[in-house]
Amino acid sequence: MNVCLMVHSKTGTTLKFGKQIAAALEKEGHTVAFIELMTDQPVSINVQGKPNTFHITNLPPENDFDLFLIGSPVWGGQPTPVALETVAQIKGLEGKKFLPFVTQGFPFSSLGGKQSLAKLSKYAKEKNAVILEGVSIGRMFKNLDTEIEKGIRKILAVLKQ
Ligand SMILES: Cc1cc2nc3c(=O)[nH]c(=O)nc-3n(C[C@H](O)[C@H](O)[C@H](O)COP(=O)(O)O)c2cc1C
Repeated sequence: MNVCLMVHSKTGTTLKFGKQIAAALEKEGHTVAFIELMTDQPVSINVQGKPNTFHITNLPPENDFDLFLIGSPVWGGQPTPVALETVAQIKGLEGKKFLPFVTQGFPFSSLGGKQSLAKLSKYAKEKNAVILEGVSIGRMFKNLDTEIEKGIRKILAVLKQ
């Protein structure tokens, strides 16, 4: 498949996960366009979860991708504004597969991960993408490399269904 894998990451965890997903997909024979999402200024959220103004500077060019993956950290129980804005803005999602992945501090996906996957999926569904089950990994009390390995296995299994 022709895959577009986009990641937003502030401190590198989601980026690491995304890079390893890309490598695993390439090993399976897929072609991967890897994009670490950049903004014109640093993005943060206030206590209400509202971000400062920003523009994404490297959205993927329109291309005939079969599968879109987007990775985001969980911020305040939500995907980051950058990840959400990316899904809102990207072109070519209609009828294409969409798989979100998130990383979070808390160890349980019920503490933000699940909600974040659902929100990214909702945005993509509004653009008529075909939603695939996403993956959430938590860091606290866990070994990140093991969680990443498990996450990748799950993604590969979902893609084979
Ligand atoms: C502003 C902010 C808000 C966060 N909110 C949550 C949260 O609600 N739940 C959670 O489990 N982790 C939360 N975290 C932790 C991050 O989700 C976690 O460290 C993530 O793996 C960071 O990804 P990154 O290294 O790719 O930026 C938050 C981190 C930041 C900076």
